[in-house]
Amino acid sequence: MKARLAEILQQAAAELPAVHSRPEFEAAKARFVGPNGALTACMKQMASVPKADKPALGKLINDAKTALAALLDAARERLDAAELAAALGKPVDPTLPSPDTPNGSLHPLTQTRDLITGTFKKLGFAIADGPELESEWFCFDALNMPDDHPARDMQDTLFLPPDARSSTTRRGNEAYVLRTHTSSVQIRVMLARKPPIRILSPGRAFRRDTTDATHSANFHQVEGLWVDRNVTVRDLKSILDAFVRELFGDSVRTRLRPSYFPFTEPSFELDIKAANMGRLSDRWIELGGCGLVNPRVFENVGINPGEWTGLAFGMGLERVAMLLHGIDDIRHFYANDLRFLRQFA
Ligand code: PHE
Repeated sequence: MKARLAEILQQAAAELPAVHSRPEFEAAKARFVGPNGALTACMKQMASVPKADKPALGKLINDAKTALAALLDAARERLDAAELAAALGKPVDPTLPSPDTPNGSLHPLTQTRDLITGTFKKLGFAIADGPELESEWFCFDALNMPDDHPARDMQDTLFLPPDARSSTTRRGNEAYVLRTHTSSVQIRVMLARKPPIRILSPGRAFRRDTTDATHSANFHQVEGLWVDRNVTVRDLKSILDAFVRELFGDSVRTRLRPSYFPFTEPSFELDIKAANMGRLSDRWIELGGCGLVNPRVFENVGINPGEWTGLAFGMGLERVAMLLHGIDDIRHFYANDLRFLRQFA
């Protein structure tokens, strides 16, 4: 029996390392330790062994069992490792650069937005944000736009279906609109904070416009608001001048042209003229609207107009980007044409 056990172990040590598949492994395992295996046969013979020899032979069998188990484990681990390697495919070096990584770059509108916000941050403005879906109160009423104001006409404003009415806004049951301008953020900020306030709010705006070279139903604006004691038109002019010079250089000229907005009084259009604006050089170009905050707006948000004054301005981001880069069609910004976008990489 002793010789038989040694023979079995020898066989196992020779055969198991040569096993290369699961079925081969299972077959070999059955041959050695299965119910009809070689070791099992030895154990059955124990019944007919003289009593005196039993302890010694029993120990030999146990040792053989342990040795076989170790050989089987080693073979199984080898198979596991081989199967894992096959599943993973070729070994990869994750530290190598990927073979195809074209560098992305910021969209020209994003670049322009960052340029504008960076400039106003230097002037002490913080960035503020507000929702694109607004109730009429924030978009119009609070900004002193009476019910019959032309901007509230269905032509200009995108309304949500009547069943999507607000029950949580100041006036309760009012329509939701896609904000037609970022001026709604002025209202939100003034309701949330006490003056002095100095914020800039870039974001999307929406109008019922038919798309052409200079119009888009979805565009972007940058809104500015400064509320403090004794803010004047001088401050408005000097802030906008500093901003425009930062963007277009020192040779640019600015002009505040009298205009009308319900939420500012007096109101102006900011025009600029520069020699380096391509096709639009040396002509007065409108950049945006501005003015001093109308006292009625202060009243609507609970700020005392006897104590506080303010200035506000709003401009189109696309307009600024078009002037900066000599782009003549607003639709380029939304077409996602890589030939266009790569020029700003
Ligand atoms: N909200 C105005 C517009 O969309 C721009 C503006 C903002 C004018 C702030 C004055 C003050 O045209």
